[in-house]
Amino acid sequence: MDNLFTLDIYVLAVFYFFMFHSKWLTPSGRKDWKTPKELYKELNKRFRFDFDPCPANPKFDGLSIEWMCSNYVNPPYGRELSKWLKKCYDECLKGKTVVVLIPSRTDTIWWHKYVMKASEIWFVKGRLKFDDKENGAPFPSAIIIFEGGSKGFPLIKSVNILAESI
Ligand SMILES: C[S@@+](CC[C@H](N)C(=O)[O-])C[C@H]1O[C@@H](n2cnc3c(N)ncnc32)[C@H](O)[C@@H]1O
Repeated sequence: MDNLFTLDIYVLAVFYFFMFHSKWLTPSGRKDWKTPKELYKELNKRFRFDFDPCPANPKFDGLSIEWMCSNYVNPPYGRELSKWLKKCYDECLKGKTVVVLIPSRTDTIWWHKYVMKASEIWFVKGRLKFDDKENGAPFPSAIIIFEGGSKGFPLIKSVNILAESI
């Protein structure tokens, strides 16, 4: 009996460890979270985008081509985020505007190396409804603005655009 109780506690401890600490069980398995249409419309009003380097059905490699003047980027949400943020920053250094929708992963190397060099960081209040679905995303989002060769000290704000409130 005692042994069974100890086994139960052990199984529960392992379960909670993986629930809270394991990257395997986080929702980052999915990469192609589609921008809510209304959010894109709002951003487009201000930035007048002329290019999406990572569209739903790409016919090019957005990481290896030259981008246009005003770029909207909702990159694949996997390990490759680091490469996309580097590309965003490199394009910005050429004088382009790059607006990026990403998960708020403030503990990553790429966040500190590239995002902190942006001109603005907008933390989205609540959870976005990707794919225009009913439910909010299982992760927080941020909108990063790289403008005019910015090199850091980003303006940081909290935005409530079209998000489900917390
Ligand atoms: C998060 S989805 C964004 C789709 C769309 N731009 C949007 O905002 O709804 C990321 C997209 O990037 C595309 N993608 C992945 N790797 C790419 C690459 N190397 N070049 C261009 N597009 C790529 C995938 O096909 C995927 O649809």
